[in-house]
Amino acid sequence: MPLPVLEEARDSFLNFSGSGMSILEISHRSKWFDGVIDDAGTRTRRLLGLGKNFHVLFLQGGASLQFSMIPMNFLGGGSTADYVNTGTWSSKAIKEARDLGKSIHVAASSEDRDFRYIPKNISFNQEAVYAHITSNNTIKGTQYSSFPNTGGVPLVADMSSDIMSRPIESDKFGLIYAGAQKNLGPAGACMVIVRDDLLDRVPETLPSMLKYTTFVSTNSMYNTPPCFAVYVVQLVLKWIEETIGGLSNMASINRKKAGALYSVIDASGFYRGTADSDSRSSMNVTFRLPSESLEQAFLQEALNSGFGGLKGHRSVGGCRASIYNATTLESVEALVDFMKEFERKNG
Ligand SMILES: Cc1ncc(COP(=O)(O)O)c(C=O)c1O
Repeated sequence: MPLPVLEEARDSFLNFSGSGMSILEISHRSKWFDGVIDDAGTRTRRLLGLGKNFHVLFLQGGASLQFSMIPMNFLGGGSTADYVNTGTWSSKAIKEARDLGKSIHVAASSEDRDFRYIPKNISFNQEAVYAHITSNNTIKGTQYSSFPNTGGVPLVADMSSDIMSRPIESDKFGLIYAGAQKNLGPAGACMVIVRDDLLDRVPETLPSMLKYTTFVSTNSMYNTPPCFAVYVVQLVLKWIEETIGGLSNMASINRKKAGALYSVIDASGFYRGTADSDSRSSMNVTFRLPSESLEQAFLQEALNSGFGGLKGHRSVGGCRASIYNATTLESVEALVDFMKEFERKNG
């Protein structure tokens, strides 16, 4: 989380916006919270360049609930959707849709090489209601450098681990979703951006809490929203706009950070990147060392030097530097120095 955001949130703990109440105490039916959620939506629209035909929602249930809500809302009456399988999260999205009995076609997959790459030149079924991708694969460290051409089929993207990290061509998308807890704020809120025309597909018979239309018609306040999480998302968006200067600047900082780490890896016979170079992520840099015992030593020494959280996801092992938006270039440069020194001593 960016430090200025934490500082402002800290101050709002005691007195939010002159209300005399904590941000944790204000009602979601108050003018104060209206200001928060409206500003978060407006900033999202500005940052992503969203047209008037998009709705910005704040839901609960994490990105994982979206794996089910998307097919429930859009795939009625025997219609079908395409999915690209690029790892754990895409596989879960496919499984959830299939468990609902929906017709899902896997248009492309990188499973043949352990999800080390992003498939190219994918041909999408033009009858599909949507084409689902995971824009950044948090565990395997791969990311779409540009979004696929679907020939007009709306893209549905899980952007949980790279939303707001770079500008996007928003008119390609039918729906974007992201659990807040990486680039947007604390756990507890999930941002969903949905294009108006897709809402015509939402079946009336779905439970209210599972219908996008419920949240569109109530400004995400059908029931009590995750107020504090939405508030911190608002602060993060303000930081991106006002301190960073927008998504082009954010992307250039992110490129510098990732570039610094990949150059150490590329120049080394000691560290080995696990993603193909044309598919690698600017958010999660995944790499291995020559042996598991060296990896253990690396992780321990890194921790002792103040670099926590470098262990790869429990399902794949190895090492992973997650360098989300709030990670500073200075801290990445310090990690680069540490990695060079560790290689010098152990290589
Ligand atoms: C790309 C991606 N999708 C989905 C999820 C699941 O998110 P949540 O825990 O909000 O359900 C994650 C979590 O790390 C993720 O990285």
